[in-house]
Order: sequence, then structure tokens, then C-alpha cells
Amino acid sequence: MIKKCLSCLIAVLLIGSYSCSQTKKTTSEDINFEALNMHDGKMIVESVCVTCHDPDASVQDRIAPPLEIIKRNYLSISETESEFIIRMTNFVVHPSPEEAMLHADVDEFGLMDPLGYSEQDIQSVAMYIYRTELEHPDWMNSENEPE
Ligand code: HEC
Repeated sequence: MIKKCLSCLIAVLLIGSYSCSQTKKTTSEDINFEALNMHDGKMIVESVCVTCHDPDASVQDRIAPPLEIIKRNYLSISETESEFIIRMTNFVVHPSPEEAMLHADVDEFGLMDPLGYSEQDIQSVAMYIYRTELEHPDWMNSENEPE
């Protein structure tokens, strides 16, 4: 019986990883900027993302890195706005260790959970993050940063 369950489980895992690897990735041609909306992006960032990515949380109280830090990391590897949006959307829609670039944060806080937003919503979020000056975490404004 246990053996049967085990082979079922393995089959499910195999099918799961196969279908994941088949998921279509966004390409730059897929970004339809006309359909994206800064206002929707702002609403989602302010009501959802900052609850975890809080720029005002002290380093000890953090449950996730501040968005401003994430933005700088994504900017450093993206040449264009489209690339930035694609990278961020790929991660946020299907968080996985392979898509993550902040490996130290994955180790420290655990991998972010998927939030159930559509790709288009998260593209609006990423466009908003790209185009907006985000609040810096407090320690960045002071001389004695603790990190
Ligand atoms: C329930 C808490 C929570 C919420 C809500 C949340 N995140 Fe996260 N997020 C995390 C944690 C924890 C990490 C760090 C670990 C990781 O990278 O997966 C993270 C990491 C990230 C990363 C960096 C991933 C990487 O390693 O490359 C991005 C980008 C991100 N979040 C975007 C968002 C956006 C956009 C929203 C709002 C739509 C959001 N997050 C909402 C917890 C959250």
C-alpha cells in the first residue's frame, strides 16, 4: 500500500515538474504596454506587496526585502524596461528558486508564495515599480547602515 502511494506521488511530482517546465515564458513581444495600467499597479503594490515588502520595517522585523532593494537588483540585470517587467513578472506569477535572483533572501525568508494575480496585473505592477521612485528603507538614509 505504502509502495503504491509512493509511486503515485513520484508520478505526480514528475508530471508536475514536466508541466512546469512547459509553461510558456513571457517574451518582450508579449508585453502590450497599452493594456498595462499604472493605477492598477500602484493599487496592488500599496495594498498587497508592501505588507511584506515594507520599506519602514526595521531589519530585524523584516519578513521580506524592501521593494526598493529588489528594484535595484532587477535594474542591475535588465537592459530595458521590457526586460525588467518580464523578469519580475516571471518570478511573481510563478515564484521558483530558479527564477529567483535574491538567493540570500530566499534562504533567509523562504521563497515568496504565488499571489494568484494574472500576468497582466503583475506586468502593471512591474511597470509601476520601474517608473516610480520607491521609498528607501530608513537605514539607507543614515550613515550607519546595519547591513
Ligand atoms: C506574504 C508576503 C509577500 C507578499 C504579499 C509579496 N511578497 Fe514578494 N517576496 C516575499 C519574500 C519572503 C521574498 C524573498 C524570498 C524570495 O526571493 O522569494 C520576496 C521576494 C520578491 C521578489 C524578488 C524575487 C527574487 O529573489 O528574485 C520580487 C520581485 C517580489 N517579491 C515581488 C513582489 C510583488 C510585486 C508583490 C506584490 C504583487 C509581492 N512581492 C508580494 C514575500 C512577499
